[in-house]
Amino acid sequence: MASIDSMNALLVDELRDIYDAEKRLTKAIPKLSRKATNDDLRSALDQHLQETEGQVARLEEAFEHLGERAKGKPCAGMRGIIEEGDEHVGEDYEDDDLRDAVIIGSAQRVEHYEIAAYGTAIAHARLLEQEDVVRLLEESLEEEKAADRKLTEIAESVVNLEAADAGEEDDETLALAGAGAGQARRASASRQRATASASSRGRTGNSGGRNGGRSRSR
Ligand SMILES: [Fe+2]
Repeated sequence: MASIDSMNALLVDELRDIYDAEKRLTKAIPKLSRKATNDDLRSALDQHLQETEGQVARLEEAFEHLGERAKGKPCAGMRGIIEEGDEHVGEDYEDDDLRDAVIIGSAQRVEHYEIAAYGTAIAHARLLEQEDVVRLLEESLEEEKAADRKLTEIAESVVNLEAADAGEEDDETLALAGAGAGQARRASASRQRATASASSRGRTGNSGGRNGGRSRSR
């Protein structure tokens, strides 16, 4: 393997890593989407799949600007994040909302990794005064950030609250059986706090608190 002897070579290497990561994601995101139950979550993932395909094309354009062949270099970081996500999502969950909460967590790990990778590459492209490359990478970075914000919104307005409901049903069963009543009270109190703070951020809409945001297909 040729040694990386310049900032230009370093940028090309970084873009190869991101290119590989994005291509892996075009295969991984549909798998997450198929396992998601919440409609908003599924459509956010499907929209981000389309954006990811656009990001692959943007990287190809960036390689062209640099006079390099578009070629990936195995991204061990993204491979690991995807593997871990598959593992967590594949566990056995009592309730679909719990799995949705896990899917959001996995997808946000992906987004944060990409935000870091694009941020570094943009800084290096800027140092090299590769303004076309900077512009292309910034467009993708904005999409990653928007996808991350959307996932937070879905988690805060619907999914985590429904997942907490799923947990509480179990707690109530325990409480009725005379065991774990304290745990049930604590879970209930923390869920009420979660609902109150989501409401105070105005993210549950105005149709009556936590259940107002439900949009399940089942
Ligand atoms: Fe991406």
